Parts: sequence; C-alpha cells; structure tokens
Amino acid sequence: MILTRTLLALGLVASAAADIPDSKRFDLTEPSYDLFRHKKLADKTVQQSFTFDNVNRRLFVAQRRDGSDMKAGDLSISELDFDGNLLGSMDVLAAGHGVNIGAEPVGEDTYLWTEIDTASSGYGTALTRFKWVDGGVIDSADEDLERIKPIPTMDRGTCTIDPVTRRLITRYQRDSAQNIAVFDLDDAIDRNFTNPLADWPIPDLGGRTNVFQGYAAYGRYIYFLLGESYDASGGELNSEVMSLDLNTGEIVQGPVITRAGSTLEFREPEGMAIYETVAGEVRLFLGFASGKVGDRRCNLFYKNALI
Ligand SMILES: *[C@@H]1O[C@H](CO)[C@@H](O)[C@H](O)[C@H]1NC(C)=O
Repeated sequence: MILTRTLLALGLVASAAADIPDSKRFDLTEPSYDLFRHKKLADKTVQQSFTFDNVNRRLFVAQRRDGSDMKAGDLSISELDFDGNLLGSMDVLAAGHGVNIGAEPVGEDTYLWTEIDTASSGYGTALTRFKWVDGGVIDSADEDLERIKPIPTMDRGTCTIDPVTRRLITRYQRDSAQNIAVFDLDDAIDRNFTNPLADWPIPDLGGRTNVFQGYAAYGRYIYFLLGESYDASGGELNSEVMSLDLNTGEIVQGPVITRAGSTLEFREPEGMAIYETVAGEVRLFLGFASGKVGDRRCNLFYKNALI
C-alpha cells in the first residue's frame, strides 16, 4: 500500500485511485437541521440505518425485529414519509445487523440492498437485493436469494448508494480491518465488480476509538457517523462525523462532534444517508434513536453546507 501510494504520488501507476471526479463536500462544522423527531417505526427497537430512494422519493429505516435475538440478524425495514409517518414495513430474516442499507430506484419500484446470511456474530456475510413490497418477507433460508459479494473475500459487508452520482459503496471487513470499495452503480446492477473505482483500508484514528454507526457517500467524499447513546457514554455527548476522500483514502475533516438533536432522550447515533431535494439541494442526513427501552423512536437531521 505504501509502495502504491508512493508510485501514485510519482504518477507512475494508473491506479483505481483518482478515478472519481471532484465534487464539493459537506462542511461538518456547520449546523444540522431537523427533518423530524420522535417518530415510530414498525418495531420498537433502535433504528440501525436508513436510506432514500431519491427518484421515487421514499425513505426506509432498518432496525432489529421486536423479540428477535441480537445475533439472529432479523431485520424489520419501515417505509416512512418525509414527515415521519409509517407507510409500511418488510422483514428480512437472518440478514445481519442492519449497519447500512441502500436503495436503488427501478422505474416506480425500489430495490433495497441489505446484508444477508447472518453469521454467529450477528453480521451478514453477503449482500442481497430485493424489491420493496409492503408486508413482504425475505428469508435467508431461501436458497434462491441472490448472494452478492462485490469483494469476493469480504466479511461483514454492507452498502450505501450515492443517489446523486449513482455509485455503490461497500464497507467490508478483511481479516480484522475495515475497508471501503466504490463501484459504478450500473456496473453493480450488472454484477460487474471487476473495476472498483476505489478500494481503501479505513485509516485508524490514531488510537482513538468510537463506535461506528453508519456511512453515506456523495461524489468524491464518504462520511462516517460515530458515537454512543447517552446511556452507553455515561451522559457524555460523543457523536462525531468525519469525511474521507475516496480518491486517496485519507481523512479530510474530523472527527468533529455533532450536537444534532442534543436534547433527545437516549440519543444513539444510528445511520447516515444522502438525499437531493426536488430543488437540487444535496443533504447529508444523520440519524439518531431516542426514547425508552420498548419504545425507541426515529429522529433524522441533515447538514446542507457544501464547500
Ligand atoms: C465491467 O465494468 C468495467 C468498468 O465500468 C467495464 O470497463 C467493463 O467493460 C465491464 N465488463 C463487462 C463484462 O461488462
């Protein structure tokens, strides 16, 4: 890797790196705004992640199914309108932790990309893709389900879709290290994973550790959400956001503290997504779970300052 970077710096190799066109990035020190607070999902557990179908303008939120064991990997996915009203739900059984999900618009339908085939860790071992159908059930016991591995050796893989530039980004584990790889969404739809636009180990934060809670990508940059609930941190607000350059694999900004929804009860950072409004404003969404055990609620905020 060091050799590759040195050669890259010297311009001696045509690498996958630098394949991603330049774009603006979110200034993570700018404030966040509310989309909604304290909304009910189909189940009562904390939300894990969320995503937008930016063409059909739909919002989906993933969580563990009520009553299901932590390690069983049973997910419930709710569809909400943008005021936070629950429109429907779907179950994805023995799928994974729900760390991140992606939405792909296909005409008037939405196809979701989630983990599948949960391991004893509670995390998925592959990705799958299925059509959103309210009331539908996807079960990893179904051998006909498609298993998708953008990186053949990947473990604990999840994905996000950049709806603006149409790319699929997977965060995956190799050995014990976390990595990110980027693909053109149309290549991913063709199951052509031979040409990643980028594939980087995620840099460590100089020994600092904070709980990873989600990611989203827009153009050249990927964003991470870190932190714990007030219950887990002993009341300290430790939620952080950071950005990485997909062309270099290096941290560009952060981690910086985000105080979005600081007054929420419990307030566990859970999920990130990109959405472009009808007016063309691109937003970086941050999710937080709130409320009490047995009555957790969904809260979404966004940043919109680009530099
Ligand atoms: C796979 O994707 C790459 C990159 O977009 C492209 O160059 C190649 O032709 C594709 N392969 C096939 C079989 O379509």
